Amino acid sequence: MKILGLDLAGSEKRKTGVALLNENLIAQCLSVFEDKEILDLVEKEKPCLICIDAPLSLPKGRKEINKKSKVHFRACDLELRKRKIKFFPITLGPMRKLTERGLKLKKILEKKYEVIEVYPGASQDILNIKRKGEGENKLKKGLENFGIKIIGKKIDDHQLDAITAAFTGFLYKKKKAIALGEKSEGQIIIPKPPSLIFENCLIDLSKGVFLPRAETMFWIKKALKKCKLKIEIFGSKDSKFLDIFSGSGIIGIYILKNIKKSFVDFVDIDKKAIDQIEINLKLNEISPKRYKVIKSNLFEKIKDKYDFIFANPPYVAKERLKEVQESVKKFEPKISWYGGKEGLFYIKKFLNRAKEFLKDNGLIFLEIDPLQKEKVKELLEKRRYKNYKFYKDQFGKIRWIEIEK
Ligand SMILES: C[S@@+](CC[C@H](N)C(=O)[O-])C[C@H]1O[C@@H](n2cnc3c(N)ncnc32)[C@H](O)[C@@H]1O
Repeated sequence: MKILGLDLAGSEKRKTGVALLNENLIAQCLSVFEDKEILDLVEKEKPCLICIDAPLSLPKGRKEINKKSKVHFRACDLELRKRKIKFFPITLGPMRKLTERGLKLKKILEKKYEVIEVYPGASQDILNIKRKGEGENKLKKGLENFGIKIIGKKIDDHQLDAITAAFTGFLYKKKKAIALGEKSEGQIIIPKPPSLIFENCLIDLSKGVFLPRAETMFWIKKALKKCKLKIEIFGSKDSKFLDIFSGSGIIGIYILKNIKKSFVDFVDIDKKAIDQIEINLKLNEISPKRYKVIKSNLFEKIKDKYDFIFANPPYVAKERLKEVQESVKKFEPKISWYGGKEGLFYIKKFLNRAKEFLKDNGLIFLEIDPLQKEKVKELLEKRRYKNYKFYKDQFGKIRWIEIEK
């Protein structure tokens, strides 16, 4: 299996990066200029797939790239935008030339070969690899982390994008990619974003945030039943929730999708999480009237009071660092799981102030590590929380607490 990746330049005068990737993920790179060189190379290598980083189709209703039209975007471009992936519209200045060239090459190549449109910038965002502008070495290292072996030392950024293009093709062949847009118009292939489905919620995790755990999902469901009961008893209509330490936003989104007339404020300190929450709110078609996304260090920017506060803080203890899986250390930001001495750094800070933001009769739900039970009990007593109850997770371990003011 040989896959050809092309980081196509808009003109034959500029360098086009080329990568040939085999089934063992060995990448060989070169640079070409003219279309003829590209076509000769294809004839020589006979790849099973050609992945081109250039627009290979026009928006429906637009006959030519250079003719004036009000149509600027294809459905696939709009899907990129929805996912907050930055791109240049195909009708913008230099993109026109690139589109022309892409369309011409595709027409010739697809007579004999399978050709797909890819966008390395999108692939890099989804795979959580730095884009070329953010440092060549970082992009190279990111690709190597996926097991790609790059032959040669002097690899330029066009070639690194060509490798990304070919790798996207590799994922496509392995059914680990998805197509954005409409077949009849032209699609962009991107790696399948890491995501999960939790009941009626679709949670995209492509920004590289904390991966929601099964234990959390177990207790959220139970906690929500308690909230519903409370709402019924007190007859409150528009209940306000705070999802603090929100990460992907899974807790708040589950609330919004399952409690009618609820409002949720999402709070996280990490910009990646803030972007991820916005993406997930859109994916789940939640009306912007029902939420606020706040970048804040704990309660610093919070002014409201809430009926219910949900918190899953970073709580892995310094003393247990050795037990943390390599995949967690590598792919999940440390800020999302590391809780300092005894894992209590954020739990303490949270309990110090949570009360101030809870309405009378409100409830707090807090996730902890089973080993923290006694220490957390002390903290709750010291801070004079009235009532609290520890609950177990599906594995029989103490995992979450229901707390009253
Ligand atoms: C354990 S994750 C929980 C994510 C999500 N709620 C879940 O259950 O899957 C903790 C989150 O807290 C955020 N965080 C860490 N320190 C914070 C701080 N000082 N203020 C607000 N959020 C913080 C991290 O960025 C991370 O997204």
